[in-house]
This record gives sequence, C-alpha cells and structure tokens, in this order.
Amino acid sequence: MKQFKRTLVTAALPYANGPVHIGHLAGVYIPADIYARYLRLRGKEVIFVGGSDEHGVPITLKARKEGVTPRDIVNRYHEMIKKSLADLGISFDIYSRTSSETHRETSSAFFKKLHDEGKFVQRSTMQFYDEQAGQFLADRYITGTCPRCGNPRAYGDQCEACGTSLNATDLINPVSAITGNAPGLKETTHWYLPLDEYEPWLRQWILEEHTEWRPTVYGQCKSWLDTGLQARAVTRDLEWGVPVPVEGAEGKVLYVWFDAPIGYISATKELTPAWETYWKDPSTRLVHFIGKDNIVFHCIIFPAMLKAEGSYILPDNVPANEFLNLEGEKISTTRDWAVWLHEYLVDFKDKQDVLRYVLAATAPETKDNDFTWKDFQARNNNELVAAYGNFVNRALVLTRKYFDNRVPARGELAPRDTELLDAIPRLAGQVGKSIEGFHFREAVGIAMNLARLGNKYLQDTEPWKIFATDPARVATVLNVCLQVTANLATLMEPFMPFSSDRLRGFMNITPVPWNSMGDNVVDPGHLLGASGLLFEKIEDDAIRAQVDRLEDKKRRNAAGQPATAPEAAEPKPLVPYPHFAALDIRVGTIIAAEKVAKTDKLLKLTVDLGTETRVIVSGIAAHYTPAEIVGRRVSVLLNLEPRTLKGIESRGMILTAEGADGTLALVAPERPLPPGAVVC
Ligand code: 2FM
Ligand code: ZN
Repeated sequence: MKQFKRTLVTAALPYANGPVHIGHLAGVYIPADIYARYLRLRGKEVIFVGGSDEHGVPITLKARKEGVTPRDIVNRYHEMIKKSLADLGISFDIYSRTSSETHRETSSAFFKKLHDEGKFVQRSTMQFYDEQAGQFLADRYITGTCPRCGNPRAYGDQCEACGTSLNATDLINPVSAITGNAPGLKETTHWYLPLDEYEPWLRQWILEEHTEWRPTVYGQCKSWLDTGLQARAVTRDLEWGVPVPVEGAEGKVLYVWFDAPIGYISATKELTPAWETYWKDPSTRLVHFIGKDNIVFHCIIFPAMLKAEGSYILPDNVPANEFLNLEGEKISTTRDWAVWLHEYLVDFKDKQDVLRYVLAATAPETKDNDFTWKDFQARNNNELVAAYGNFVNRALVLTRKYFDNRVPARGELAPRDTELLDAIPRLAGQVGKSIEGFHFREAVGIAMNLARLGNKYLQDTEPWKIFATDPARVATVLNVCLQVTANLATLMEPFMPFSSDRLRGFMNITPVPWNSMGDNVVDPGHLLGASGLLFEKIEDDAIRAQVDRLEDKKRRNAAGQPATAPEAAEPKPLVPYPHFAALDIRVGTIIAAEKVAKTDKLLKLTVDLGTETRVIVSGIAAHYTPAEIVGRRVSVLLNLEPRTLKGIESRGMILTAEGADGTLALVAPERPLPPGAVVC
C-alpha cells in the first residue's frame, strides 16, 4: 500500500441556496470531520477544506423567484451554512466560497490552460431557448420527462429519481422553468471536455487500481464506463458564474460542475501558500467526502479535468455515502421534510454531540438509512447517558467521595483490571483501523464499547460496597476507571469533540494524544476538576415537539399546502384552438398494471379504450401501486408519438395533475363515462 506524507480532506461544497440538513451531515460533513479530526489527533499532517458552491442554475432560479440577485442569495446562505457547520464542530481549516476572487482566478486559469493546450473541443449545437425570457435554457432551467426512468420532473442536467446525468435535449416534453413554455431551439457554441478520450485511462485507474473503493462508488463508476463516456459541455449560456476566459465567449460562464470542484483548490490556496504541496506532490493523499449523487463528478469528470491539466494529483479515495431518510421518507427540501441544522442547534442547544453521535452511529455507509426521532432519543438515553455518561459520572463521583477528588494510586493489578486496561490500546487500534477504512459507524460502535466495558467493570467490582473493608482495592479500581475515562476523552474526540472537551475539564487534564493512549495517562495524586453530567436525558416532550412538527408538515403537504409558499406556475402563452383540437384525449379504464422491472417510477398499464386496448408506460409508480390503480378511469392522450421506455412501447399518455408540493393525481371524468368517451 502506498505511503503518504500528508492528507487533504475535502467535503462536498453545499449549494448556497438553502440551509444544511441532517442528510448533508450524515452523508458528508460528519464522516469528513471524524476523519480529519482523527488524523490530527494522530499527529498527521492534514488539512480539511470546504466552502459554499455558489454558482449554478438553482441559485439564479431562487433569486428570480424572490426578486433578489443571485449574490443576495449566496451571501445569505453562505453565512448561514458556514455558521451552523462551525457550531456543530465541523473543523474545516477553511470554509471558503466559489464566488471569491481567488476562485474566479483559479478556475479561469484552469480553463484557460486546458483551452490553450487544445484539451477541449468546441461545438456548435442547437440548444433550448426561451424566446419569451430571451435566454438559453441550461440544466435546471429546463424540466421534462426522464428518458431513462420516466420521472416527469427530471432536469436538463440530471434526473434525481434515477441519478442519470442528462443533456437537456434528452428530455421528453421539455418545458422552460422560467416561463413554462415549450422551448425553441437556437444555435450556440460551447467547449466540451472529450471524456471519451479519457475512458481507457479511467478504466485502468479506477477499475484496475482502485478496487478498494466502496462497492457503490466502484460500481457506479464501472457502470458509467461500461455505458461509454461522451464529451461533456463545460460552459453554459448564463449570466451567473465564472465568465469563460477566452475571446468570443461573451455571455458564457463555466458550467457549475466545472468550477465547483476547482473550489477545493481555490480554498486550499486561500488557506496556505503551500497549497501546491497539497495538490501537486504525489505523496499527498487526496480524499473526497461526498454523497452518492456526486460520484460521477468526483470520480470521473473532475479526475479527467485534473488529468487533462496534468500537474495535479488525483483522489486516492472517494468514500461516498448513501442517502439518509427521515422517518421513513426521502428528505425533501421542497416538502420541507428535513431536520435543518440551524433549527436543531436552537432546539437542542449544547447537544451538538448527540446529533454527531446519532448520525455517525447510523451513517448510511452501505445502504440508505433512516433517521427517526425515537431512535435519536433512545441512542441518547440508552447509549450516551446510560453507558458513556454513566460510567464517567460514577468514576468521577466515587473519586470525589473516597479520595478527595484526587486520582488514587493503584496497587497490584488483578486480572480483571488488566483485562480492562488492555482493552484501551486494543480498541483504540480497532477504532483507528475502522476510521482509516472509512467505516465510521463501526468505529463509533467500537469506541462506545470501551465505555460499556468500563460500566461492566464497575458493576463487577462494586467499589461502593467494599470501600469500608478494602479501600486499597477501591483505589486500584478507581485508578483503572480514571485511566479509562481519560482515554475515552481522546477515543471519542473525532466523533464527539464537545463532550471530550467537557470531560477533560471534569478531569482537569490536557488532551492525551492518540498515540499516547494507554493504561497510565493520569498520575496518582492528580486533582480532578469540578464535574457535572456529560450527557443529559432527553425527555419525551422534546421528542414529541419534533415529531409533531413533522406530522404537521405531513398534514400540510397532504392537504396541498406546502410549508413554503407554492411557486405559482407561470401562465403559458395562448394557443390557437386547432392546436388543442388536434389532441385526441379519451376516457380509458385501467385493466392491468404492473411495475416495470429495475425502475422505481414506472408502471406498465393496460388501458381499455372502448374500441381498443393499449399498453401505456407511466411514471406514476411513486404515487400509485398497481393494485390501487386497476379499475380506475383515466384520461388518455392517444395521439402522442409512441416511445419506448425500458424496452416497452408506450402508446399514449395518462394525464395527471400535480400540486406544487409534488402530490400527483389522476385526471378522471367526474361521472362514470364508458371507455372511449372523448375529452374535449
Ligand atoms: O451536490 C451538491 O450539493 C454540489 N453543490 C456539490 C459540489 S461538490 C464540489 F464539486 F464542489
Ligand atoms: Zn430518471
């Protein structure tokens, strides 16, 4: 295995168009912080960089909706995100932003170098254009149906339902997100990174040389590479972003996914004049912490950019996490179905470590996972309070009671004592190994085992029962316990730095470095500090308040009253009557339904139309089960050009109505008309 001299840890740059929620934390910031803190504790040379991703279409759309500038939006959220992450103890060495001057220079120079060295291809293509808005429609400015899974709300750059990265022109029934118009096409010129040229190299680098990457990461890369890579545009016709730094590119900016990962480099530059050591010396280990939706950008596109540039190192690992759900449902910003960090920090003041612990202990490392308030409470009360806190508290209180708050000297050690003391280096070694292997969930579980062993030891030795008859034995027992508590402050530090600090205060000790952990870290006679409870029980009331808040959101969502004001759909321009009359819409009855294999969204429906029966594939599986939809009357657009989805020819479209919160409903005749009745 390659030996590295230093580590550069990056955490995905959150978009500065909204606050951070527990999904971001569990997926990216908690694991990255545990890793960085651990390496620092080991005395390793490490820097941890992050920042806000301040470009891209969602930010401009939000600004347009609020009637403010994109800069207003990013200023608001950058500050908010930066503060809440700092308050949670995410220990960035720098938290920068991609609207900084350094970033503009760095990303421009990066593009210019590739441009001047002929690493791009320039292409003129027809792209969607909204005449009314006078604007090209890149990425999220356009929505439509995903050609791969049938999700009717896919974006021009990506379908969030199936994760496919798209070109806007791939979308079925594209619509402008600005005016709601069906867009026209207009010619425009852009620069493309010919990813296909990097395919053989990427295959070798990832599939041969990085077989140790997490199975999901490796698997996604393999699937991308097996499908075949295509040139990707790295510029856009937009006003908000880093201007394309070459002549003839007026009105064009760098694609947000071109500039954002360069943000890691810019942030390092702002942090240290030695930034090149971190980015160009092959003895630096680069590790990107990301969520699974970012895999292609960090494992394929950014590495291809770095390779094309030529002077940078490549990531050694990209430990992407799966997604965290909330109370059994996908976290959703539009439905406000999330636990927002800034709100948590108000509701659970001084309980940063509880959230850090719960998210580490339930990290979605190998599969999507669920956060529930009940589990949050149980882990706090049964694990942090009853195991860790209880052990520490008993050790400290007994020392105060029997030995005037001073660490007693120990006598000869019994096997029961050495057994516990021996567990310290053994468990520390295991925790370190797990963290180094990016198994944070396992790591925090092992660390907690030391507290559990401590509790068991106290239970077995019962010093409170023998003090009167054998104070010397109690001295040994408490000495052993205090060695363990001092070590726990170090062992828990990567996961729960706030309580480690408090614990050191209780013990009146300075930090024990990771490599010095062992059976003799506090000296006899050492005077402990004043102590309190390391963790407090969380009562049912506090949890009920959170659950009630979520249930309220659910009710409002179900009633079509989204917690956030709905975005009124822009009126569409007038159409002549013949355009409407040209649509052949009729009533049909669904007589059979089944899920389409390997998709979450699609149902294969057989529809009786009176004079004929048709098969129609519809992207409504998330809203209707096959069982509940059979027998329903629906309105069907019959003369839509057929298309093939997942190998099934779909002849027509089932009409649905969609609420601003994403609720979907079938459009059906209000009286029981027979199949074939004409909708006009
Ligand atoms: O998915 C996201 O939230 C992106 N803003 C992550 C960017 S990571 C990096 F490339 F900047
Ligand atoms: Zn899709």
